Amino acid sequence: MTSLKQEIDRRRTFAIIAHPDAGKTTLTEKLLLFGGAIQMAGMVKAKGDRRRARSDWMKVEQERGISVASSVMTFDYAGHTFNLLDTPGHEDFSEDTYRTLSAVDSAIMVLDAAKGIESQTLKLFEVCRMRDIPIITFINKLDRDGQDPFDLLDEVENRLALDVVPASWPIGMGRDFKGCYDLFNDTLVLFDRSKGEELLASIECSGLDDPKLDQLLPADQLAKLREDVEMIRGVYPAFNHQSYLEGHMTPVFFGSAVNNFGVRELLQGIGKYAPSPRPTKTLQREITPDENKVTAFVFKIQANMDPKHRDRIAFARICSGKFKKGMKLLHVRHGKQLVIHNPLMFFAQDRETVEEAFAGDIIGIPNHGNMRIGDALTEGETLTFTGIPSFAPELLQRARADDPLKAKHLSAALEQLAEEGVARIFKPSIDPNWIVGVVGSLQFDVLMDRIRSEYNIPVKFEQVEVYAARWVSCDDPAEMKKFVDTMGSAVANDHDGDPVFLARNSWHLNDTKDKFPKIQFSATK
Ligand code: G4P
Repeated sequence: MTSLKQEIDRRRTFAIIAHPDAGKTTLTEKLLLFGGAIQMAGMVKAKGDRRRARSDWMKVEQERGISVASSVMTFDYAGHTFNLLDTPGHEDFSEDTYRTLSAVDSAIMVLDAAKGIESQTLKLFEVCRMRDIPIITFINKLDRDGQDPFDLLDEVENRLALDVVPASWPIGMGRDFKGCYDLFNDTLVLFDRSKGEELLASIECSGLDDPKLDQLLPADQLAKLREDVEMIRGVYPAFNHQSYLEGHMTPVFFGSAVNNFGVRELLQGIGKYAPSPRPTKTLQREITPDENKVTAFVFKIQANMDPKHRDRIAFARICSGKFKKGMKLLHVRHGKQLVIHNPLMFFAQDRETVEEAFAGDIIGIPNHGNMRIGDALTEGETLTFTGIPSFAPELLQRARADDPLKAKHLSAALEQLAEEGVARIFKPSIDPNWIVGVVGSLQFDVLMDRIRSEYNIPVKFEQVEVYAARWVSCDDPAEMKKFVDTMGSAVANDHDGDPVFLARNSWHLNDTKDKFPKIQFSATK
């Protein structure tokens, strides 16, 4: 029997961060192939099929061809258990991504070799940096012409202020792409277009002077490889594991995800270098993963994930201990015990009830609305998890059901979606319709689509004269009452009933703040 520590040590919980189109979805799929989570490359045909074969539960995702819902995929490979947390690449869903990053121990940053660092890469990288999340870089699409690999390394180094160490090195590029030399293990992996996605054996070399190389590579490309590697060894520091773990250094792998090339080496790199579950901060103390008692926090809620089961699932990251099915845990916010009867884990398109899970794992907890993002589950201790971000809603619109008789149903749908964390909703004191606040405009389209397809309510979003929403609070109840009475129609309640001030414009906001200096205005809850 393996000990708790062994179980934890072999876990790698990570996310892939990338600008849309860099190849995150393709890489995810190839990683799953190694874990046997999807059967074989051959089953992956058209894009439509491919999308369905993966983590995409949501119709809107398939229609739009963008990944909007984070999900979890667990797979085993070479003695490790990998939990890959999917993150939407589109910036309108960054809130979801940021929360997901609060539940991982490391990240893979995928760059398109032709494009280098793009706007979303930069933003997501910043989040990782804030959280000291160590990053392994994968430079993708070497089968196409791209930028010079040295320029790409410079770009990562200069724009991200990160030390770079090539873990592998490409031999040629585009049409001339011959494969990669593994600089950490002195092996050569050749690329063979005729073999498609078939895995090619890596060839052990005794170093770059190994005469085998002369037979395997064209003379000019071998000479260039030797020259490049000499330069690399002269210019770049040696790989320093500690520096990587602290988020100062990134090992860089090259490959072509769509050709399943370089993916095995990347996965081996994650197994070897990426951290096992790290300690988690709470307001009260730091939790270490190998504590015997179970602690967990919810970082995502998803409703109606499977159209066949109209349920909602809270995704909880286990931060310590060994979780067992049927366990009774304290739901800290409610102060009540909760028996987790059917904890789920996710394996590509399947979800299964699991008997046990360990620190680092993500379990899905089916529930009927009693779980929220940020909720703590413990074996009795009161803990408050910190660092799960909440964003200020920047775009506000009024939601109106096409059929007025469905207003009540719309209300229920919006309340559910607000709990899931996909939008903020506000009920103004004088308007029967909810005002919906989001961070990116595409979220309105997704909401519209989901309300239509999941709740069968055609809905419209309309312009409304609201510039900003601010949660208001005050230690003095009399002052609060005065504020609510005076501001009347500009005061709304969120779905928890907490008061929110809806400002018409920036002047209105500032003027109100001046008039009520004792009231605190907060852009996030
Ligand atoms: P994303 O999730 O980061 O948005 O990217 P995704 O994997 O969907 O990949 C974006 C496009 O890049 C896809 O092409 C995909 O096939 C292609 N791609 C991924 N990896 C490689 C690679 O190593 N080499 C090359 N040449 N292309 C790659 P698409 O045309 O949008 O879709 P599809 O019809 O080819 O699937």
